[in-house]
Amino acid sequence: MATVLITGANRGLGRELARLYAANGDEVIACCRDPERRGEDIAGDIRWLPLDLADEAAIMTFPTLLRGAAIDIMIHNAAIRGATGGLADVGFADFEKVMRINAAAPLILTRELRSNLMAGEKRAVAMISSRAGSMSEGLDPDGDYAYRCSKAALNMGARKLAYDDPALTVLLLHPGWIRTDMGGPEADLDVTEAARGLAACISDAAPKDSGSFRTWNGEIVEW
Ligand SMILES: NC(=O)c1ccc[n+]([C@@H]2O[C@H](COP(=O)([O-])OP(=O)(O)OC[C@H]3O[C@@H](n4cnc5c(N)ncnc54)[C@H](OP(=O)(O)O)[C@@H]3O)[C@@H](O)[C@H]2O)c1
Repeated sequence: MATVLITGANRGLGRELARLYAANGDEVIACCRDPERRGEDIAGDIRWLPLDLADEAAIMTFPTLLRGAAIDIMIHNAAIRGATGGLADVGFADFEKVMRINAAAPLILTRELRSNLMAGEKRAVAMISSRAGSMSEGLDPDGDYAYRCSKAALNMGARKLAYDDPALTVLLLHPGWIRTDMGGPEADLDVTEAARGLAACISDAAPKDSGSFRTWNGEIVEW
């Protein structure tokens, strides 16, 4: 059984991943901004910890909450969409916030928890990215500048981390267009199906896969 840390575990895809791993008998470290507002409890071995990824001090002190616990799989799931009104809606504050949470926080949190990963066996770091961050796929008539830029930046950060740190297996995963608050009700994929596919991708991943960008069902995403 593995120990799996998940960010943004209180709703959407993160919650479904937490539920899935806990149901599988794995130990889940479920992070969210406010564990008091996590909703109904999830059955299984699950430990809720506060972590606001916009808060630098919270990230830096987070390792002390874990007291050296081993982590086998770290899933950077939390993200925000930011302004969606096209170029007219791009502003420094919103853009910087989206980049901070979606692109910088996963890298910095991985760095701060590297010793926990090294104490684990799988040493997998799964970055939930998006096709929206691909240069060659995924352009749609939406108004998402900050979000798309943040996922492209996350992709490069993860590729660089995979190159620099061969002890880790760093995966970039597009979860599909899923019915969550972010994806909306018209999305074509059920969150349970997406979570199952992502968990299978992570489970099947070997060190040679580090730095790859795949969909929830294992297809390669072009950069
Ligand atoms: N839904 C889709 O169709 C889709 C498509 C491609 C990629 N993705 C990616 O899949 C992942 C999950 O998306 P989702 O659809 O589940 O989104 P969601 O329903 O909007 O949930 C987002 C999660 O991120 C958390 N979060 C936001 N800001 C945070 C912060 N500062 N610190 C900690 N947690 C924070 C939220 O917590 P609060 O409740 O506290 O806000 C929530 O748990 C994201 O990385 C997203 O970019 C989604």
